[in-house]
Amino acid sequence: MKQAIQQISEPVKAAIEQFKTAYQAALQSDNALIRQMVDHVNQSSGKQMRPLLVLLCAQLYGDITPATLHAAASIELLHVASLIHDDVIDESNLRRGEPSLLAKFKSKTAVLGGDFFLSASLSEAALTGHIDIVSTISDMGKALVKGELLQLSGSKDAIYNQNYYFGVIKAKTAALFCTCAKLGALSTLKELDDKAQRLIEMSENLGICFQLKDDVFDYQEGGHIGKPVGNDIQEGKMTLPLLYVYEQASNSEKEEILQAFNSKDIAYIQQLVVEKGGMDYTQQQITYYKEKALQCLQDFEDTPTRKAIEQFIALVADRQK
Ligand code: FPP
Ligand code: MG
Repeated sequence: MKQAIQQISEPVKAAIEQFKTAYQAALQSDNALIRQMVDHVNQSSGKQMRPLLVLLCAQLYGDITPATLHAAASIELLHVASLIHDDVIDESNLRRGEPSLLAKFKSKTAVLGGDFFLSASLSEAALTGHIDIVSTISDMGKALVKGELLQLSGSKDAIYNQNYYFGVIKAKTAALFCTCAKLGALSTLKELDDKAQRLIEMSENLGICFQLKDDVFDYQEGGHIGKPVGNDIQEGKMTLPLLYVYEQASNSEKEEILQAFNSKDIAYIQQLVVEKGGMDYTQQQITYYKEKALQCLQDFEDTPTRKAIEQFIALVADRQK
């Protein structure tokens, strides 16, 4: 995985280093507790796929500028802030295989840690000097809140259908990927045209792929990075593999599924999902969105940057972890 990311990063290698400098600079603080929290989060910093996408999209659409680097830092900081808050909301003690900020510092401090990352994100947005980028980041923050609220508060009937599910994953995951493409394009200081829209569309499909893959991992032993298998069921989240099976089921089967789901009978649900084709269906959907994402790149010149984005899409869709 790390090697694949390195290869994909090749066309924007120098910019990645500059992004990292901006990211770390944004997190400086004279407060010891904040420094401890920042160090804890940085210890398992993840693959930083979103800033990579910003840089690649900027380079494909125009040219990387200082605004691109600050925009990349801003979106990654917003993403990390949202995960810190998400772990408080989900009462989740694990993030990327390590204790979450919640587990290490307890909820009140962890919420403030998330606030610090959010504020750092806003500083980086301001440093782009580009008001449309600042608005895009703020809109993204609002969209994340909406997605999280949708997930928290949907009525039971609304939850158990694919329309609702795709609404949630578009809001909580794909929108962030779209924003990466938009930021990349905006930061080149060119007008957003049809080509930029194609990049945004590509990213939406990529984001859907990313979340579907994540949802598949929840059913695979050793698949999901840093979260236990069955975590989604544990948190009461019915994702596509099970939703598909649920939608195909008769009324009496639906009742059985709901009973198993509500009593968190993970082993039963896992077996059912495999037997009734929920995994195969989700895999077909992943392939469908992967192809859609690749198609969006067709009008772009065949450069090493386009190749890198194609590899990025393949990595997201085909990753084993
Ligand atoms: C992970 O989902 C969570 C998100 C993608 C978004 C969380 C958003 C918020 C908490 C609101 C907005 C916050 C800010 C700072 C603007 P998940 O719980 O399904 O995935 P997981 O398994 O990674 O926890
Ligand atoms: Mg969560």
